[in-house]
Amino acid sequence: MQSSSTREIKDEIQRKKVVLAYSGGLDTSVAIRWLEEVYGLDVVAVSINIGQPNDVESNIERARNIGAISAYAIDARKDFVENYIWPSLKANALYQGVYPLSTAIARPLIAKVLVDVARKEGAEYIAHGCTAKGNDQVRFDVSIGALAPDIQIIAPLREWVMTREAEIDYAIKEKIPIPVKKACPYSTDENLWGRSCECGILEDASREPPEESRRWTISPIKAPDTPTYVQIGFKEGIPISLDNEKLPPIELIERLNDIAGANGVGRIDHVEDRLIGIKSRETYECPAAVTLIKAHQALEGMVLTRDVLSYKKGAEQRFSELAYDGQWYSPLRDALNAFIDKTQEFVTGTVRVKLYKGSVDIVGRESPYSLYNKELATYAGGDSFDHTSARGFIYVWGLPLRTAALAHPSGQSNKVACCQEPSQGVEEPGKR
Ligand code: ARG
Repeated sequence: MQSSSTREIKDEIQRKKVVLAYSGGLDTSVAIRWLEEVYGLDVVAVSINIGQPNDVESNIERARNIGAISAYAIDARKDFVENYIWPSLKANALYQGVYPLSTAIARPLIAKVLVDVARKEGAEYIAHGCTAKGNDQVRFDVSIGALAPDIQIIAPLREWVMTREAEIDYAIKEKIPIPVKKACPYSTDENLWGRSCECGILEDASREPPEESRRWTISPIKAPDTPTYVQIGFKEGIPISLDNEKLPPIELIERLNDIAGANGVGRIDHVEDRLIGIKSRETYECPAAVTLIKAHQALEGMVLTRDVLSYKKGAEQRFSELAYDGQWYSPLRDALNAFIDKTQEFVTGTVRVKLYKGSVDIVGRESPYSLYNKELATYAGGDSFDHTSARGFIYVWGLPLRTAALAHPSGQSNKVACCQEPSQGVEEPGKR
């Protein structure tokens, strides 16, 4: 048995722990050694699978070899789809109307996983490899703070003044194996919901993104000359099947990424406003996201009332901004989510999409909860709309405008002044 003083000494010499988000790349590999050296911390490396192509399992050994005291590889894809991708799809979330937020919504999930590991390991610090110029540092820091305000954050790349060359020199000096990666002139980020790509020649916003910067989508010019049709089944706002085949969520997204990507669908070229005030040019490939959002919007158009659709638009925009701005765990995002969830009650049905040379067109939709009523809409026989009611409706609908026109004859600049005197009053229906 240990005496209490022995235990105290042991506790004292036990080093504090930092949980590091480890990608396996050069920056975070160097960070393992640097956190040990500069901060005197024991590093717990965490690699998270969110559907990116590289194998996170192989990071375990790499991290241990560099000096991490332990390493985890965590498959968080299910959590990502259910709690981050689906809520964003229900919100038709597109930052500035174009970017499906694929990178942005993965950050709060990664933050959550890091906090979970920190709790399990009794770590007081969390570290990530973000630089000082991007949005991701904000998303990590704010999300970690919202989940665990007591944990301190270290961002080595924000602190060290190392060029890439200096980093490589440090790695050689410290015998840190430099990841053998084909030289890529771009900075990329990938997960199930899409691929982000920036830097290099893309920084010239006037130039078309070179074909070699794309990975997930074929050039529309080279895409098949015949369209591909896909029928997407939704239940309460969530896609559940492709061409009547029920699919688990991860597989559904992966399959749609392949099908739509093979038709050149999902390319986005965006000069976007970063949270820190910089405009940056980023390109994206989000074949499944673009297709699903469009299909989802089409189904909503059929089952939601005009008022809900219009009110929801505002909520969607705010939701997207919050997700982009690192406010995923904010009370407002939570409240908007509750509203959006309520609107999805009847978003059940199927949507037929046509994928063709980069475009995605909605060519059919059906729902047991459809508000589209052919008998009411038709111009052909079988019309059930009461034509006699139109006149009275328009009389009432236009009444305030006619009243205003008579009361303020020159009230509007874009209107020819009314010729009648205000005293003549408002005409009665049927007099025209
Ligand atoms: N601009 C995107 C965002 O802030 C993506 C950022 C990561 N991009 C990258 N190429 N590493 O959400």
